[in-house]
Amino acid sequence: MKIAVIPGDGTGPEVTNEAIKVLAAVAEKDSFDYELTPFDFGGERYLKTGETLPEGAIEELQQFDSIYLGAIGHPDVQPGILEKGLLLNLRFQLDQYVNLRPITLYPGVETPLAGKGPEDIDFVVVRENTEDMYCGVGGFLKKGTADEVATQTAIYTRKGCERIIRYAFEYTQKRNNPKGKRLTLVAKTNVLTYGHDLIWRTFQDVAKDYPDVEQDYNHVDACCMWMVKNPEFYDVIVTTNMFGDIITDLGAMIQGGMGVAAGGNINPDPGGTSMFECMGGSAPKYTGQNVINPIAAIAAMAMLLEESGHTESATRITEAIKTVTGTKMESQAAGRMGYSTSEVGDLVCQNL
Ligand code: IPM
Ligand code: MN
Repeated sequence: MKIAVIPGDGTGPEVTNEAIKVLAAVAEKDSFDYELTPFDFGGERYLKTGETLPEGAIEELQQFDSIYLGAIGHPDVQPGILEKGLLLNLRFQLDQYVNLRPITLYPGVETPLAGKGPEDIDFVVVRENTEDMYCGVGGFLKKGTADEVATQTAIYTRKGCERIIRYAFEYTQKRNNPKGKRLTLVAKTNVLTYGHDLIWRTFQDVAKDYPDVEQDYNHVDACCMWMVKNPEFYDVIVTTNMFGDIITDLGAMIQGGMGVAAGGNINPDPGGTSMFECMGGSAPKYTGQNVINPIAAIAAMAMLLEESGHTESATRITEAIKTVTGTKMESQAAGRMGYSTSEVGDLVCQNL
């Protein structure tokens, strides 16, 4: 297994260290080999060279089975440059059309939802990751004048809709929720009567191949209400890129915050290169202090292993995380965990 590692900026390298420490420990237990290759992409490199991804980087990264990403974001780099030049560029060019975001409340982790526990907050969002308003299609007319016009076009293709919906049905089948297999499409068919009509029709067509999965539909605004009021209702959600971006941040909050939220940018096709990351940013103010929470980064490593077929190792890590959050950590907030960043990594290793 060949893994490209982009530790990135700020606290990215610190949390990446812990994820790699856990990888080393689990690989020894489960006897598998891997090879890590570091890449220095991120804000520092951009400030030195003026490039986000150098010439040939995509071709090089394509040779890897997976990419592990720490965090990118630098206080001296204008917002948007690294996001577009690195993160979105990689997602699009590597055709990572699935953004997989498990919303799992680990034991012992505080949720802002009163009366809800780990048995209630346990679902997965499958966010489309290559279409919608993220395509960068649009432009200005009469820019900077009082008559200015701006367009930002949402693109949906039959092919793009079909592959994400099919992935979501397959995922729901595989997840095999004992409470029942249910896939909820989240969109806005009452207003977006062209694009989301295509999504809706595609959902209906693909659903015929999965009669064992209960199908459901929520408008995105209603979904935001249910995620707060009845999160236990959800098993798997499939949604568009923009709506997925928004509801997964809501999801991150109900699962206990950015310290625990992990995600994958997946190209499930044979030979595809997927990329795993923690959802939190580079947290510049905590850099180098050994106080940032590495749980999300470690959970992202578990997702990488799961996707690479090392299912048992992935489960081993997830169970160890639950033990550590449930019986050791005082909080998931940076500096208030009761342990340092590296101590949390050690605890996960000890509990594998
Ligand atoms: C995410 C992030 C990105 C997105 C940003 C950094 C471009 O918010 O992964 O959810 O909007 O997809
Ligand atoms: Mn986001």
